[in-house]
Formats: sequence, C-alpha cells, structure tokens
Amino acid sequence: MTRHPVTRRQLLKEVYRFGGALAAGMFLSACNRPERVFEQVLGPFFPDPGDPVTPIRELGNPSAPYPLSNDWDLTQIKGHDRSAQGQVVLLSGHVLDPAGQAVPHASLMLWQAAATGRYNHQGDSVAHSFRDPRGKVIERTLDPHFQYWGHCVTDDQGRYQFKTVLPGYYPADLGSGWFRPPHLHFIVQAAKFPELVTQTYFRGEALADTDFYQQLNASDYILRDPALSHEEQERLIIEYAPGQTPGVLQGAFDFIVRRHQG
Ligand SMILES: [Fe+2]
Repeated sequence: MTRHPVTRRQLLKEVYRFGGALAAGMFLSACNRPERVFEQVLGPFFPDPGDPVTPIRELGNPSAPYPLSNDWDLTQIKGHDRSAQGQVVLLSGHVLDPAGQAVPHASLMLWQAAATGRYNHQGDSVAHSFRDPRGKVIERTLDPHFQYWGHCVTDDQGRYQFKTVLPGYYPADLGSGWFRPPHLHFIVQAAKFPELVTQTYFRGEALADTDFYQQLNASDYILRDPALSHEEQERLIIEYAPGQTPGVLQGAFDFIVRRHQG
C-alpha cells in the first residue's frame, strides 16, 4: 500500500508541469529586467474540468470554473456567518512585464490548502491525519468557511490584492519525510504574455512557526528546483509582517510575466 498522498495521475500532471518549468528555467537569461518570477509546478490539486471538488463557491453560476468563481477574499465566503480558520494574511503587489511596466487587466488565480493543510479536492484523499517531523499529530480537516480559490484582476496600475489565511504544511511523501511548506499557488494570465504558473512561500518573525517553516522551505523539492539559482528560489519566499490591521500579516510580491519565445 502506497503512502504517497497523491495518485499516479496527479503525479503525472505534476511531472508534466514540472518539465515545463524546467524548460522555462533553461530559457531564462540574465538580460531581462526586472528580476523574473520563476515558475513553479502547478501541483496536483488544481481542478481540471470534471475533477471532484467540494462544492464551495461564491457565484451561483455552476458553469463558471471553480478557480474563476470566487473573489479576492478567501477568508470569507459570501453568505457565511463565520470566516475561515487560521492566521489571516494580506498579499498585494503588481503584475509587471519583463521591462517593469505595469500589466493592467491581468487575471490572477490563487488556490491553496486551508490552515489545516487540506485542499478542497477529492484527490487530496490520503494522510488526512499525520505526524509531523516534530512528532505533532496534525488533523487535516476541511474548513467549510474557507474559500480555497480566489480570483482578481489587476487595475490600471497593474495592482492586485488577496486576503487569505496561512495554509498548513502537509506531507507530500511520508515515506521519505517530504513535507510541503506552507505555500500559495498562482496562475497569472495576461493578454500577449504566456501564462505564468508559480508558487510562493512564507517567512517572517511574526509567523508563529516560522523557524519550522524555514526548515521545510530549505528541503522542499519543488521550491528547490535545481533549474533555479538559490537567489531565484529565495525570491519566492515572501516576508510577512504586521501591517495596519491588527492580527493581519502583510506581504508584498510582484509577478513578472515573461515574453513569448521566438
Ligand atoms: Fe500545493
């Protein structure tokens, strides 16, 4: 019996996207400014059409794809009297082109695990309870008040903002002791630019468990993509710190879309 929490189909999906990320990494050159946001794999829990997901969505239109059906605030589902569990974080920044110019009307999709480390996808079906490297037992329960997917469009200055919660870490392979650190998944789509798929990570003294997260960041096979330099990998780890709203940690990050090849 396998202890891998993902199915073979999901792994193939991940490997397929990982290959794309490696190819993109090889194409990159140092001549582009500003610094690029490097690609990271799509991961197994972004829903393809027909994939079974728990039906949490804000819009009543069932034909809208799940990732597009929700708004920028993942902590509050419209009509719910309770909000999501977990540390609230606010992430904002810009979508920029390789010359550093703002990209207005770009579409950003964010999806992630809940504070427990559980995705809203029936493919996330293994290791719903696990013992972490410190011996702590984690129950990966679904949060019915967490939105799981967010969507926003950049304004005329290329600005975006998401409000969400710090996702939990979770086991990618209990057999080898690989735990995915807290991370956010993004797809950025803008006219005239190739789609950008990436992941961002967490650091900051205000995070309750930041030392442990940095251990997980240091050994995560996806963040530590050998196609990326150490500096490029580190750029994907966003610093979160207290901001204007008590109890909310803020981070800033710019997504840099790349040029079409050829
Ligand atoms: Fe993930």
